[in-house]
Amino acid sequence: TPPELIRNFCIIAHIDHGKSTLADRMLQVTGVVQPRDMRAQYLDRMDIERERGITIKSQAVRMPWAVGDTPYALNMIDTPGHVDFTYEVSRSLAACEGALLLVDAAQGIEAQTLANLYLALENDLAIIPVLNKIDLPAAQPEKYAEELANLIGTDPDDCLRVSGKTGEGVEAVLDRLIAEVPAPEGDPEAPARAMIFDSVYDTYRGVVTYVRVVDGQLSPRDKVTMMSTQTSHELLEIGVSSPEPAPSKGLGVGEVGYLITGVKDVRQSRVGDTVTTTRNGATEALGGYRDPKPMVFSGLFPIDGSDFPVLRDALDKLKLNDAALVYEPETSVALGFGFRCGYLGLLHLEIVRERLEREFNLDLISTAPSVVYQVTMEDGTEHEVTNPSEFPDGKVREVREPMVRATVLTPSDFVGTVMELCQSKRGQMLGMDYLSEDRVELRYRLPLAEIVFDFFDQLKSRTKGYASLDYDNDGEQTANLVRVDILLHGDPVDAFSSIVHREKAYSYGVMMVGKLKELIPRQQFEVPIQAAIGSRIIARETVRAIRKDVLSKCYGGDISRKRKLLEKQKEGKKRMKMVGSVEVPQEAFIAALSTD
Ligand code: GTP
Repeated sequence: TPPELIRNFCIIAHIDHGKSTLADRMLQVTGVVQPRDMRAQYLDRMDIERERGITIKSQAVRMPWAVGDTPYALNMIDTPGHVDFTYEVSRSLAACEGALLLVDAAQGIEAQTLANLYLALENDLAIIPVLNKIDLPAAQPEKYAEELANLIGTDPDDCLRVSGKTGEGVEAVLDRLIAEVPAPEGDPEAPARAMIFDSVYDTYRGVVTYVRVVDGQLSPRDKVTMMSTQTSHELLEIGVSSPEPAPSKGLGVGEVGYLITGVKDVRQSRVGDTVTTTRNGATEALGGYRDPKPMVFSGLFPIDGSDFPVLRDALDKLKLNDAALVYEPETSVALGFGFRCGYLGLLHLEIVRERLEREFNLDLISTAPSVVYQVTMEDGTEHEVTNPSEFPDGKVREVREPMVRATVLTPSDFVGTVMELCQSKRGQMLGMDYLSEDRVELRYRLPLAEIVFDFFDQLKSRTKGYASLDYDNDGEQTANLVRVDILLHGDPVDAFSSIVHREKAYSYGVMMVGKLKELIPRQQFEVPIQAAIGSRIIARETVRAIRKDVLSKCYGGDISRKRKLLEKQKEGKKRMKMVGSVEVPQEAFIAALSTD
């Protein structure tokens, strides 16, 4: 297809505003999916995505659409919707010339949509505002058309009104895309350059790489090179999804499709990288490539220690489909053998953990999530700390922590409580705008550690669920941070160490020892539970001693009953972990590590 007949676009929308439903409807209207093959959310393949109703991996679909007698090809590129995947979003936007800004006509725009809209504007995409779900009785298209128009500087009448459910207005959306999204530009004679905007591991075919060709041409017989890693691969197949994969004779300027090279690990085919031909290839990569960088770390331990090899195999498998997941073995005094894992953010963590538990049948404990701290010692040595128990002892000159730039959208009634929350989380206000009379955008610079702790839950509970949050990395800052250890009978429990702001260290210590006092059973001796900064104790509780005598319950001389009781006690012991001389039930660790 010549570039002037191609339109590449994506859909920017908040979770649940109806992106998948509208995409399904477009597949139907353009005839690429027959009604009998239609199933809801055709494009969301992973079960877990479907269940949670979120899109993790983007894909591209080609749809024919004619205006008059001219047959066009529309490439729809699916963008992931969540904050953890900002970089992937930015790459799918970079593969497009236009975006549908899809907003639920009963809800209005949300923080995440706003953040992605800004990304789209930075990428110079043509924006087409669309109000969805106009069939809903609660829809207020007039009100939100005004809001959208204000935001992108157009006339409210330019907002399309559609219903993905009934199909109303969907054809008009397709016509608008042809009319308003610019055709792709590129040099067909130049060496081939294609940008990878997604890569997915498929059990049968290996890694499937989705690309947008910028210059030149990729043909089935080419050998290709990934420019960031300088690795070369044979092309086993090249084609377009429509939406089932169909091999093609090659991809030219502006085209979107997939490549299969037989590699088995998505790390060899990285989002944002440039693909060129090995012979007569390009010398300069396309801009914007970035290595995925884990921002949040936590320990993962099997509850049953003998599951450790299963956990290792499971992580090796997940990694094939997740270039951002990193892990290395970790040993904990309290929790045994496990892995320290790095994630893009909290949702990423949750998804990985859920997949491990569900797809590999594992029971796992995860330790409290931590961010990456840079520590400079008085003697000038530098440490990168991803695990609080490894925070160095000794004289620290400076600790730096990662920061984010957060956008909160809230109904104006809650502005006060949101500001209070941000301030209590060490936030610095950057700005505030009224999007409309009753909706406010607040911008703050906040430590990532505070977001990771419980910011989102608090935001939701303080605003009755109405506020939405988006954030992006924003450098680091020095902060007065200390490591708080928890000691049982004088021995530190590594899994409970935490890095906290000095001002909050005391309340954190009191909270933890209080919680543990409830969870640790009495022992034969008195057990002090202490919180400490270095050698200074900042909080203490005591579990009083008892003499456990299970046999005292048996009055008579029934020997078999006695034996039964003794065996029961032995079994109970198996699920105990020894921390120094103290027996701690496994459940106590799980309970103490869960944030509630
Ligand atoms: P993510 O995949 O999480 O990004 O969600 P999504 O934006 O793709 O939303 P999805 O299409 O899954 O729709 C969310 C919910 O809204 C579903 O329950 C849909 O049935 C419903 N929905 C979508 N479009 C419409 C519409 O036009 N009208 C009505 N009444 N409901 C709709």
